[in-house]
Amino acid sequence: MKIRGYWLASGILGVTAATIERVVESGADAVVTKSIGLHPRKGYSGPILATSHGGLLNAVGLANPGIDAFGEEMELLKSKRVPVILSIFGNTIEEIVEVARKSVQFKPAAIELNLSCPHAEIGQIAHSPDLTRRYVSSVKEVVDCQVFAKLTPNASDIVAVGKAAEDGGADAVVAINTLRGMKIDIHQIRPVLGNKIGGLSGHPVFPVAVRCVYDLSQSLTVPVIGVGGVTTWEDAIEMHLAGADAIQIGTAVVEGLDVFSRVKEGVKDYLKEMGFRNVSEIVGASWRSTP
Ligand SMILES: Cc1cc2nc3c(=O)[nH]c(=O)nc-3n(C[C@H](O)[C@H](O)[C@H](O)COP(=O)(O)O)c2cc1C
Repeated sequence: MKIRGYWLASGILGVTAATIERVVESGADAVVTKSIGLHPRKGYSGPILATSHGGLLNAVGLANPGIDAFGEEMELLKSKRVPVILSIFGNTIEEIVEVARKSVQFKPAAIELNLSCPHAEIGQIAHSPDLTRRYVSSVKEVVDCQVFAKLTPNASDIVAVGKAAEDGGADAVVAINTLRGMKIDIHQIRPVLGNKIGGLSGHPVFPVAVRCVYDLSQSLTVPVIGVGGVTTWEDAIEMHLAGADAIQIGTAVVEGLDVFSRVKEGVKDYLKEMGFRNVSEIVGASWRSTP
C-alpha cells in the first residue's frame, strides 16, 4: 500500500467493522485495527481511561477478541475500498508469527506489529534492537504483505531500535506508541487507573512524537509513519516537516471524527499557499533544509 495520507491509529474505534466503517466515511485514508493477539484477552480492570493535563491516560491491557474472532470483522471490511492495516501482537516470537500467519488470510493491506504497548508484557520488545529485529524478520518470513514496526518513545535509543526494525525487513516504522505515565487521586490517595500505570496520548505527547520522527527519518531509509498527539492541520504539517510520510491520528478522534477532513483540508490549503505541489515536497523538509 502507498504510505501516504491520514490514518486512524490503533486502539481507538478500530475494534469492530461498524466503527471502522464510520471512521472511513469520515475521511480517513486507512485504518489501523486495535492490536489483536492469538487468544481473546479481557484486559485490565477499570478504570482504564483517565484524562490528565490535556492528554489521555489508558491502561486497556490489550483487550481484544483474538485473531480467529476478529477475522469475522475483517471479512466484513473486505468490500470497503479503504486499506485496513491489521495491528497484531504476541508475547513470544512464535506467538506473533502464528498471529501473522492467521492474519494474512484476511488480506490486510499491511500488518502493523505492536512491539511497544507501555503497560503490557510486550512493552519491552521495542526497547531492544535485537528483539525488535528478530520479531520483525520472523513475521516477514511468513507474510507476503508490508510489515510496519511500531516503536516506543520510552526506549532509550529509538533510532537504534528503528534501524534494527529496518534490518529485520520492516517496510516502515510507526512512531510513537504512548508514553508511560500515571495519575494519582489526591482524595482517595491512590492511583486512578486499575493498572496504576498507563500510556499517555493526545496533544501533550506531540513534541515527543515530532522529535522521534525527526530523528528516525534522518537515519532510516524506510518511510516513517508519524503518530502522537496530532490534532490539527498545523500539527500534521509539522509532523510531515519532521519526516513523516503518513500520519496516524488516535486520541483526537475522541473529540470528533471530522478531524480527518479538517486536517486534510488544512494541509491542502497550506501546500497551495506555500507553493508546494504535494506532500512529498515537505516530508523531512525541516532537516533537509537545515545545515
Ligand atoms: C485507548 C487507547 C488504546 C490504544 N490501543 C493501542 C493498541 O491496541 N495498539 C497500539 O499499537 N497502540 C494503541 N494505542 C496507541 C495509539 O495507537 C497511538 O500510538 C498513541 O495513542 C499516540 O497517538 P495519539 O496521541 O494520536 O492517540 C492506544 C491508544 C489509546 C488512547
